[in-house]
Amino acid sequence: MAMTFSSGFLGLSFFLLLLASSTANARMHPMFYHWSCPQLTQIVNKGVRQALAKEQRLGASLLRLFFHDCFVNGCDGGLLLDDTSTFKGEKNAFPNRGTARGFEVIDDIKTKLEVACPGIVSCADILALATRYAVIKLGGPWWRLDLGRRDARTASESKANRDLPSPLSSLERLVKSFKKKGMNERDLTALSGAHTIGQAQCFLFRSRIYNDTDIDPKFAKVRQANCPWKGGNKKLAALDERSPNKFDNQFFKNLMKRQGLLHSDQVLFNNQSVGFIVRQYSMFQFIFFKDFSRGMTKLSNISPLTGKKGEIRKNCRRVN
Ligand code: HEM
Repeated sequence: MAMTFSSGFLGLSFFLLLLASSTANARMHPMFYHWSCPQLTQIVNKGVRQALAKEQRLGASLLRLFFHDCFVNGCDGGLLLDDTSTFKGEKNAFPNRGTARGFEVIDDIKTKLEVACPGIVSCADILALATRYAVIKLGGPWWRLDLGRRDARTASESKANRDLPSPLSSLERLVKSFKKKGMNERDLTALSGAHTIGQAQCFLFRSRIYNDTDIDPKFAKVRQANCPWKGGNKKLAALDERSPNKFDNQFFKNLMKRQGLLHSDQVLFNNQSVGFIVRQYSMFQFIFFKDFSRGMTKLSNISPLTGKKGEIRKNCRRVN
């Protein structure tokens, strides 16, 4: 009798906890949509699988979108908003214009979710979940992801220009910009390891391959062949040419050979304390994965909108 009572009580408490999670005022939690949108994971995962089947690079593009969303006003889906005649958002800010991609993947998933559970799941959470699944599909680690973010009603071009780091940054600048978001040197190094996947355009690494001294000359020559001094701004090179679609620790091995594609990547190996972390990740992938997971959880928790703040957008490209 006592057993039945206590297990019934426990079951009821669990139920109430989950129910509370699905109300607008609830705190963020990985099971936030458990009752309100049970199909969520399946729909997001399917959308990501279809995107990766079309083009593996989209996994990298989603990961970059998520980083750029979270670093500007927090993970609030602000980056997903289109500009209008009266509104200039983050999409066309300098670090995003012509480089941020993958928006259609989020749009497709959102369309399906609006059929399955209308008005329930935020665009910010869709991006967060899609990113995690894409990284896992490319061989990377899982991380704890609380859900229950709401979408911003506005976005800031000037904040995107100010807060997103430039590929020309010094290590000091990178450390500062991550510190501003509550992240330390280990977070910066681990999260930069995201450049184990994806591509960059010539105009963003040109000065590195022609002007930097801290670069393997053979590597610079190979890269120059497909990124001329004049023209060819959009020509692509893999951020990690050995395994551009595999999430692994090769990026750090490249840095030790002075084969980082971006100036902002190579500077991580210039300094003793951060260089030590690079060396560690290059030797022990599991340490990189552990720190990357922790960093992604931190990134995903930057000033989310919860409770009654923001809204659940119907279309990720515009406010309701
Ligand atoms: C530390 C400062 C960082 C700088 C200066 C930086 C800069 C860049 C640049 C210039 C590109 C090439 C974009 C293009 O040519 O289209 C790029 C690509 C990329 N970045 Fe970063 N990044 C940084 C950190 C991060 C972080 C923290 C993440 C994720 C956690 C990330 C994820 C990516 C990914 C996955 C790509 C490839 C995107 C694609 O192929 O579409 N980056 N980054």
